[in-house]
Amino acid sequence: MRGRDVVLDGVEIVYPNGFRAVEATDLRVEAGEFFSILGPSGCGKTTILRAVSGFVEPSAGRVLIGGENQAGRAPHLRPTALIFQSLALFPLMSVRDNVAFGLEARGVPRAERRRRAEELLELVALSDQAGKKPGELSGGQRQRVAIARALAVEPAVLLLDEPLSALDLKLRSHMRAELRAIQKQTGVTFIYITHDQGEALTMSDRIAVMDRGRIEQVGTGDEIYSAPLTAFAASFVGEANILPGRIAEAGGGEASIDTDLGRFVGRNPRGLRRGDAGLLFVRPEAMRLGPADNALEGTLARRDLEGPFVTYVFRAGGREVTMHLANTGAAPVPGAGAQPLGFAARDAVILPEGPLAKTGRELAA
Ligand SMILES: Nc1ncnc2c1ncn2[C@@H]1O[C@H](COP(=O)(O)OP(=O)(O)O)[C@@H](O)[C@H]1O
Ligand SMILES: [Mg+2]
Repeated sequence: MRGRDVVLDGVEIVYPNGFRAVEATDLRVEAGEFFSILGPSGCGKTTILRAVSGFVEPSAGRVLIGGENQAGRAPHLRPTALIFQSLALFPLMSVRDNVAFGLEARGVPRAERRRRAEELLELVALSDQAGKKPGELSGGQRQRVAIARALAVEPAVLLLDEPLSALDLKLRSHMRAELRAIQKQTGVTFIYITHDQGEALTMSDRIAVMDRGRIEQVGTGDEIYSAPLTAFAASFVGEANILPGRIAEAGGGEASIDTDLGRFVGRNPRGLRRGDAGLLFVRPEAMRLGPADNALEGTLARRDLEGPFVTYVFRAGGREVTMHLANTGAAPVPGAGAQPLGFAARDAVILPEGPLAKTGRELAA
């Protein structure tokens, strides 16, 4: 199997009722890439997948797969296969026949169907379950049957629409590793849709963060987590302390910002200028006890033991500031009363104002 690249060239999708679900979007997914589209429910992820698979036609722009314009091409004629959350395996067919099903429709002879099905069941480590019915398998095994069935028709691009969301937590994290391994082994391009940042960060070569029909940022998980470029991306992926303010000075890739907790310096990737409104983001794990370049004073309000780390919430000038400290015993522990806290300039990013994700917490004023 060989993956192909997928290009969205100015793709815009308006539903018949006039609702604009996807704004003009340019995106390039490389051949053989594990690419995730990450965003909250309703932001347009499934709509983009429908346009790639051919279940909706873009209102403007083009979808190209392997350089070929897919306009007007029906779903079954595209080099794609689709997997949903609800698997729709055939309950009365054996696992082997489920996997071979799509091949029969394509006129592949019986012996060849059987051979391909066995090969794919081996790939998803289910060779010993080939004769069983789907109902006799666990949830994770059924998911693997669905993957084998989708791969049977040798798609160049596998589209996965939140395929793990029906599974329980433990199985979900196990299946992440499985999916990643299957993708690497087959070389098929995976476009994986999820609202779960953990899934996107652990599995993907690259991620597109999406909000309200727009792609906000494309990058590796590390880039998006450590160098977010929009307020939405910074607040949707991971946790952050968020301080609104106004830019006091800018230059050399950094800026200082006046907030109600004082003046702080941070990276300035969007080139904000003196006088602009901005939001400073600093991750809880970047907060430090003791003196720092960016210094403030906080009083410990709460301690939550998370296991590998501890969350400390401080009151600082009418706001809450969250700090994560490793739970190693060697780490310093905050005392009672007002104490110095801070963070390094390189650990803070200052971004233009913009909508925040619901999971992001603007520090309560
Ligand atoms: N057939 C449709 N007609 C009109 N609006 C739709 C249709 N399908 C989805 N939508 C709307 O488009 C937006 C994006 O939907 P969807 O792509 O399913 O989001 P996601 O997969 O990110 O949760 C939502 O506001 C949804 O209500
Ligand atoms: Mg969806």
